[in-house]
Amino acid sequence: MNEKVRKSAVTGHPVAHSRSPLVHGYWLKKHGLAGSYDRIDVAPESAEAFFGDFAASGLVGANVTVPHKEVAARACDWLDEAAQSMGAANTLWLDANGRLCGANTDGLGFLGNLDQLAPGWDVSRESAVVLGAGGAARAIVWALLSRNFTRVHIVNRTLEKAKVIAGEFGSKTTAHDLNSLGTLLGKTDLLVNTTSLGMAGKPPLEIDLKPLPTSALVTDIVYVPLQTSLLKRAAERGNPTVDGLGMLLHQAVPGFERWFGVRPEVDDTLRAIILEDLGVAG
Ligand code: ATR
Repeated sequence: MNEKVRKSAVTGHPVAHSRSPLVHGYWLKKHGLAGSYDRIDVAPESAEAFFGDFAASGLVGANVTVPHKEVAARACDWLDEAAQSMGAANTLWLDANGRLCGANTDGLGFLGNLDQLAPGWDVSRESAVVLGAGGAARAIVWALLSRNFTRVHIVNRTLEKAKVIAGEFGSKTTAHDLNSLGTLLGKTDLLVNTTSLGMAGKPPLEIDLKPLPTSALVTDIVYVPLQTSLLKRAAERGNPTVDGLGMLLHQAVPGFERWFGVRPEVDDTLRAIILEDLGVAG
């Protein structure tokens, strides 16, 4: 084989839970490419040096997991708009001049999932409620504003954390504690759970959906189980729903395209492979 093996890496600490090698492995095989995608465990104290020396590593790129996304962004010579606005990068590559470039594709993954499974979801969408105020919430607020939502309400148990995100994104975003949820739900077109509640092993997300219009789309970033109790309850009352697995799969698309030159698809076979690995019913 003459073709140089092109490599990428996933980094993080710890990274045992990452499904990214399976996702990229499936696409490499499907497209007959001679690259590889491996996990590299990088301890927090080594992260700055790892990204600083990236050009000499022999890798063409990397995904970056928590808690390295901010360090990675700081090490980059160029950042896309999402990574700049979030101060965090999850996808890295070297450009033709060997400069380290970074993107944040978490928000794109959220959008790609809804575009695929609920086409037209963002037409005449105005008001969204985002539950939670962690890293995923920040990416999703960015994504919704990029699709011109006019009101994004960030609702969090700890109001201060919601205020920090709202402050970063400006006047279209507002911060609330859980007491305001009922009123906000009555006027929302989209409800997104970005908290870990509802995940296997965590308590369920216990919110009253009664005020929510049945036309509102409900989506969850939790994908184990695939049908969270939030999604089940929403579907039972007639709301359209989209599960969270596609966000994980779609966030991987831009990186693969940068590293290997082919834009891959999130197809049913890939979903089935990941569901089987997760031990989750499809
Ligand atoms: P990430 O950065 O991965 O998105 P995180 O920072 O761990 O996640 O945030 C998890 C979110 O779930 C937070 O918004 C958290 O609320 P707080 O900011 O008040 O901690 C929310 N969350 C976790 N457990 C919760 C609970 N029992 N009730 C309400 N919200 C909860």
